[in-house]
Amino acid sequence: MNQSTMKGGSAIHAPAFVRQQKLINWVAEIAALTQPANIVWCDGSQEEYDSLCAAMVATGTLKKLNPSKRPNSFLACSDPSDVARVEDRTFICSASKEDAGPTNNWMEPGEMRATLSNLFAGCMQGRTLYVVPFSMGPLGSPIAHIGVELSDSPYVVANMRIMTRMGRAVYDVLGTDGEFVPCVHSVGAPLAAGQQGAAWPCNKTKYIVHFPQSREIWSYGSGYGGNALLGKKCFALRIASTMGRDQDWLAEHMLILGVESPEGKKHYVAAAFPSACGKTNFAMLIPPASFEGWKVTTVGDDIAWIKPQVDEKTGDVRLYAINPEAGYFGVAPGTNEKTNYNCMASMRENTIFTNVALTDDGDVWWEGLSKEAPAHLIDWQGRDWTPAIALETGAKAAHPNARFTVAAIQNPVIDPAWDDPAGVPISAFIFGGRRSTTVPLVTEARNWLEGVYMAATMGSETTAAAAGQMGVVRRDPFAMLPFTGYNMSDYFQHWLNIGKMITAASPLQLPKIYCVNWFRTDADGKFVWPGFGDNMRVLKWILERIEDTEGATGGIDHLFGISPRFTDLKWDGLDFTQAQFDIITAIDKNAWREELKLHTELFEKLQYHLPQELEANRQALENALSS
Ligand code: OXD
Ligand code: MN
Repeated sequence: MNQSTMKGGSAIHAPAFVRQQKLINWVAEIAALTQPANIVWCDGSQEEYDSLCAAMVATGTLKKLNPSKRPNSFLACSDPSDVARVEDRTFICSASKEDAGPTNNWMEPGEMRATLSNLFAGCMQGRTLYVVPFSMGPLGSPIAHIGVELSDSPYVVANMRIMTRMGRAVYDVLGTDGEFVPCVHSVGAPLAAGQQGAAWPCNKTKYIVHFPQSREIWSYGSGYGGNALLGKKCFALRIASTMGRDQDWLAEHMLILGVESPEGKKHYVAAAFPSACGKTNFAMLIPPASFEGWKVTTVGDDIAWIKPQVDEKTGDVRLYAINPEAGYFGVAPGTNEKTNYNCMASMRENTIFTNVALTDDGDVWWEGLSKEAPAHLIDWQGRDWTPAIALETGAKAAHPNARFTVAAIQNPVIDPAWDDPAGVPISAFIFGGRRSTTVPLVTEARNWLEGVYMAATMGSETTAAAAGQMGVVRRDPFAMLPFTGYNMSDYFQHWLNIGKMITAASPLQLPKIYCVNWFRTDADGKFVWPGFGDNMRVLKWILERIEDTEGATGGIDHLFGISPRFTDLKWDGLDFTQAQFDIITAIDKNAWREELKLHTELFEKLQYHLPQELEANRQALENALSS
C-alpha cells in the first residue's frame, strides 16, 4: 500500500507507478473537497487485500470465518438501512430531462453538482481515501474500459479487488494520457478526531449519480453493492450504455455462457434476466445426467459488453462479448448444492459474505442453504436466531438480498475464453422474466424486430435486489429498467440500429433472439418447470435452432414467434408430461389481451422517440389477437 498523510491541502504524492498527471490532479481535487486524513494508492496486491481485511476485522466491519470451514473468508453485516440498491435515489444527470427519459430520475446537472459539492465537502474527514484503479474487462482488450474509484470504504476496496481487475497494471494501461471513468464514493460518515466509527458507516441521505456527458459517477451515503461498487451497475451498465450508444456497441445486463454439444459444436449465448431470477444458476448450469457429453461454461454471470468486430478468419462482422467483471456478487439465499453446485463450490474459500447468518462454528448460513436450519445462529443483524424464533416472529436469518463476493476464477466451470481480450462470439440472446402466468416456456423471435419487441416489453415479478415492493409485475425492458443510462426509447432504437448494422455487413451472423420463462405456476401456485439443470432442455433446443440454418428443427409458429412442441424437447431422465408442458406453454388469448394493454401502457409512457417499428409490431399483435 502506498500511503500519504494529508496535511492541510499539501500537494499529493502519488507513487512512481502512477504516471498520469490528469489522474493525480483529479485525486488532489477530490481530496481537497472531501478532506480525508490520508490517501492510499491501491496496488491490488494480495498483501494489500489481507491487510485491509485484517484492519476491518479490528474495527468490527468484518468477522473472520472459521478457517477450517471457510478458509480466508469473512462476513460483513451492513446497517439495516443499507441493504440494497436504492433506485429512487439513483440519478441520470444528462443535459436534458428527455435524454434521461421517463424511466430514470433526473436532475439538472448544475443543480446536482451544487448538491454534491455540499454533501462531499469534508465528508471523508478522519477517514482514508483509497484510490482504486480498475479495468472493466481483460486489461488492454479492445472491448474493455478503465475506471478509477475514489472511496472512503475499505469494504468497497476489498470487494472491488475481487469484482474487477484492480491494481498496478491498470496504471500501465492508462499510461500518461489514457481515458478513465472517474468514480467518487463516500459512505458519508466523517469522523471527528479520536471518534470510533460505526462497523458499517453510511448516511440516511443517499445519492447515486451519473453524469453521462462527462462520464462521471458520484455515490454518497451507501456502502452496499451496486450503490458503492461503482464498476458494476453504475459504470458497466449506466455509463457504459451511453458509451455504447455513442460508439455503436452494447452494455447489457446479461450473463454469458458457452454451451457445447457432445459432437463438439460450441456456441455462446448472452441472457438477460431481471435481478435474482436465477441468472447465476443459469450461468453455471449443470446439464442433467441424461445429457451426457453436453457442457455449459460461464463467461459472465451479470453483465456483458458486446462490440461488433470482424472475425479474422472469415471477415464476417459478428458481435463479440466480454464479461467486464472479474468476480461474482451473487445473491446467497436460495443457493445450495442442488440449485447451484458450481456456485457453492466457488465460495468454499476466499469469499466475502454480506448479510448472511453466522453459525455457532464460525461458518455461514442462509435460508435455502439446507433443508433443516441449524438449531442456533446469529442473524445478519447480530441477534440470536433459532427456528422457533423464526416461526414466531418471521425473522430471517439472512437478509433476502444477502450476497457473496467471489473471484470468477473460483468457478469450477469457468469458460476457457472468459478472460480472452478478443471476447466470445454471440450466437443468441435470451430474455427471461419471472412470470407466473401468460409467457410461455420459450419462444424464438422470427426476426430481430420481433426479438427487440419481446425484450422491450418484458415484465417480471419484483425481487429483493432493489428496495421496494416485492412480487408485483413491473415492466423491465431488456432487464435494464434500473440500468439504462439514457432514454429507454433511444435505447430500443439503438438495438434496432445494431441489428441493421450486422444485417447490412454479415446477415448470417445476426444472433437469434429468444424469450424464456421458467416461472409459470399451476392452479396451486406451484412452479411447473423443474428449472435449474433442466433449463438445459431448452438450451439444447435453442442450440439446434442456431445450428439449423434451414429452420427444419422442430417448432411451431404462433402469434409471438416459434416455440417447440412437446416432442421437440429431449425429456430423458425427467418425468414431465405433455399436460404439464401444456400448462407452461399455453398461449391464453385473454391473458395476452390483458398483457398487450400493459405493453400499450408502457409504450405510452415511452412515447418520446419510441421507434415506430415497435409500435407497429404492437399494433400487428393486437390485430392478430382480436381476429
Ligand atoms: C445485481 C442486480 O445485483 O441485478 O446483480 O441487482
Ligand atoms: Mn444484476
